[in-house]
Order: sequence, then C-alpha cells, then structure tokens
Amino acid sequence: MNFDLVAALYLLAAALFVFGLKRLASPRTAPRGNQLGALGMLVAVGATLFLVDYRFDGRFWVAWSPGNLVGIGLAIALGAGVGAVLARRVQMTAMPQLVAVFNGFGGLASALVALGDVAHVTPQGATLAGVGAGGVIVGGLTFTGSVIAYGKLQGTAWAPSRPVTFPFQKAANAGLLALAVLCVVLYAGDPTAGGWLVLALAVSLALGVLAVLPIGGADMPVVIALLNSYSGVAASAAGFAIQNEILVVAGALVGASGLILTAIMCKAMNRSLANVLFSAFGTGDTGAPQAATGPGRSVRNYTAEDAAILLTNARSVIVVPGYGLAVAQAQHSLRELGDILQARGVTVRYAIHPVAGRMPGHMNVLLAEANVPYDQLLDLDQANPHFESADVALIVGANDVVNPAARHDTTSPIYGMPILDADKARNVIMLKRSLGSGFAGVENELFFLDRTMMLFGDARQTVQKLVAEAKALA
Ligand code: TAP
Repeated sequence: MNFDLVAALYLLAAALFVFGLKRLASPRTAPRGNQLGALGMLVAVGATLFLVDYRFDGRFWVAWSPGNLVGIGLAIALGAGVGAVLARRVQMTAMPQLVAVFNGFGGLASALVALGDVAHVTPQGATLAGVGAGGVIVGGLTFTGSVIAYGKLQGTAWAPSRPVTFPFQKAANAGLLALAVLCVVLYAGDPTAGGWLVLALAVSLALGVLAVLPIGGADMPVVIALLNSYSGVAASAAGFAIQNEILVVAGALVGASGLILTAIMCKAMNRSLANVLFSAFGTGDTGAPQAATGPGRSVRNYTAEDAAILLTNARSVIVVPGYGLAVAQAQHSLRELGDILQARGVTVRYAIHPVAGRMPGHMNVLLAEANVPYDQLLDLDQANPHFESADVALIVGANDVVNPAARHDTTSPIYGMPILDADKARNVIMLKRSLGSGFAGVENELFFLDRTMMLFGDARQTVQKLVAEAKALA
C-alpha cells in the first residue's frame, strides 16, 4: 500500500462525509446520511492505519512498531465499544447530553493529538506550531465546557442548571482568553518552549468551565452546537499540526456545520449568540405551574369529549407539538389519534417549529419514533400558509412557539421570534397542565382568544382521552 492510495481513500472518506451531511437535511434521508458519515469515518480510520510505519522483511509486511498497532487496535475497540453501548442505551430525551460527551472527547482528543505532535516533532515552523497550539486551547476549552454542559443538562449538583455568576466574570474570562492567546503566540515564537503550551492548555481548561457555568441549563443545546463547532476547529487545527488531510477536512465540516446549526437556533429564538452566551438567560425548564392573571381575561376550559367532537368533524387539523409532548411522552398516543382522524377523512398535518422542544430536531425525533409519516410533517414556512384554512390547530405541549406576542409585543422577550400562526386557525385546542409559561417565561396570549379551548392535564393522558372519545364517536 503506498501513500497515494491513502490519499485516494481520504478523498473517498471526505466525499462520504459531504454526501452524508447533505442527506441529513431531510428527515426522510437522514438515516442514510448517518450511515454514509459512519462509513466515511470507517474508511478514514482504516486508511490512517496504513500511515503507521511498515517495512517489508523479505517475506511479509510487518509493522515497524508492533506496539503501535496493538495500541491502535485497543483504542479502536474501546472507543467503538463504548460508543455503541452509549448510543444504544441513551434515552431520546438525553441525546443532548450524549452529544455533549462526544464533543468533549472530540475536543480532548484533538488537543492531545496536537500536544503529542509537539512532543515528537519539535522544532517546527512558527505557523504550524501556532496552529497546533491554537488547536490545543480550543480543544481544551471544548472538553471542560462540554463536561459542564453535560452536568447542567443532567441536573447534577456540581453543575447546576441555573446560571452561576460571580463578580467580574466576563472580565475574568476575557483575561483568561487573552492569557491563552499570549501563550500560543509565545510558543509559536519559540516552538521548543513547550512550557507555554502546557500553560495554554491549563488556562483553556479553566476557561471552558468558567465560560459555560454562567449560561442557563435551557440554553445548553445552543452551547452544545457551538462546542460541536469548536471541536471541529480543534480537529482541523490538529490536522494541520500533524499534516493529516482528512482530519483537516472532517474538522472543517464539523466546525462549519456546528456554526450553521448555532446560527439557525439563535435566529429561530430571535436571540443573538452574545445574548445566549453572556446574558445568563433561562433558569432551566418551567417550574411549578403558575396561574395567569389579568383583568377581564378568561379562558375556556373544555372537556376531552368537546374537543373530540370538534376534531372528528374537522376537515383539516394541524398538530403543533412542543416541549410538553416530550415531557409527557405523548407521541405514540398522538399518532394513534392522527390515524383515527385520518380514517374519518380528516387531513392531519404536523407543524414543526425549528426550536420546539429543547434540542434541534426534538419534535422530528419524537414523531419519527412514533412512525408519523414524513409527508405529514411541515416546517415553519410550509405550515404557516395553511393555518388560516385549518379547522383546528391542536397544540400539544407547545407554548412559546405559538405565542402571538412574538409578532407585535415589542416588550416581550420573544418579540421578533418567528412563530407558528396557530392563532389564525378557526379553532385552537391547547393541551397543557396549567396556564404556566414556557421556556421564555412569558404568558401566552393564545390562552385568552375566544376560539381557544384549553384542555388541562398531562398531554399523554389527555391525548389518550381524546383517542377514547374519538373511537366512541366512530
Ligand atoms: P415551551 O414554550 O417551553 O412550553 C412547553 C409547555 O409544555 C409548557 O408551557 C408546559 O406548560 C407544557 N408542558 C410541560 N409538561 C407537560 C406535560 N406533561 N403535559 C402537557 N404539557 C406540558 O415549549 P415550546 O413551545 O416547544 O418552545 C420551546 C422553547 O424552548 C422556545 O422558547 C425555544 O426558544 C426554547 N429553546 C429551544 C431549544 C431547541 S434547540 N429546541 C433550545 C433552547 C431553548 P404546563 O406547565 O402548563 O403544562
């Protein structure tokens, strides 16, 4: 095997990554995209094995250093084993934690690769040394930042979900960042002075902790998307340091896609990245249900029987799932309700807001788990023109993503956030436990519309009641 074949295999792996990413853009093609990406990684790792020094002993190709191969084999077996077990066991709702762990280890691996290279191949040119050292600091802060993000999502005592702030926090973090960059510059100036690099790593590990602690637990999905991007940048930098093309390409793809995902989430929440990172917004999920107040405003509290009559007599129903669907795990009952309505000739579609729930694609994952057909799913732009002609908007555990205040109330924290126009449907049926607020902590005007029917209770139990009533009406 010569080096050109390795380069060709790397090119194949890069192409598989790109085509895999392209297929991730739609729920229908996403599973195949995932498989292509995994295949690309297998090709890349396999090709890299041929970069281990080999020599021909006259009869066989033998590894120049058998110890290397044993080490690599053990590392692959361990990584693949742990990854497979974790991925199979993880609950769908704990997926962001798993991604945080993967990001963290990706960052750490990149930092160690760049660090290991420095230990072996000094002295190198100032540029390469600087890029490698940059990878060390980005990888280091990605590792500890991801550990804290994991802790906040998991609700651990050592990383509480609420924003943890202290005086001069931003100044302290800016100081640490400046110190890390200074270490990189000094190291690049003298690549034999490894002490600067070790100091840069130590500072970046501290920075990762201090930068993520002040961010509220509910903002962690955005932070994780950003850390995902950082882990890609760190991998790319490590790739430059050891001059490995596929690491550069894969890192760049992860870096760019993570950044795009971060931007999409911020736009869908109508918040800037700076607001997410520095405003200590969001104290976690909604606590105890609160009572809505306000003079002259009332809500219409209905029964499942009333709602079932409306639903079964509708021509078109648009379901809007939200975070409460995930909490109640109501997706299977919801699918059953959709099937019953469709059997009665009702057109049923599902409107998915890009930040409904608490992680990217949260609703798509839940509905896919319940085998809701992909062609019934509409994204925000596709769904909004249909609400005016819909007989019923059935809102299941969603709140902020259907709050009309986002359109006109300039004082609202969600002002400007694109929402699903559920209030434009002829009737609105809202399933939630109380008049409590959602993630953004604001009251929803939709509760008080004349055409809104509130159905209080846990979403799964309520949908099960609707199923029973709809069956009885058949
Ligand atoms: P939210 O506005 O958070 O509202 C969810 C509602 O579900 C709550 O008001 C709650 O009301 C209800 N609920 C909770 N448990 C329930 C249960 N067992 N049964 C029935 N209802 C239940 O959700 P949303 O509309 O999906 O909006 C998502 C929010 O999260 C947005 O503000 C978004 O910006 C933010 N966010 C999203 C992401 C991603 S990536 N998706 C990331 C960070 C932040 P009750 O307590 O009255 O039941």
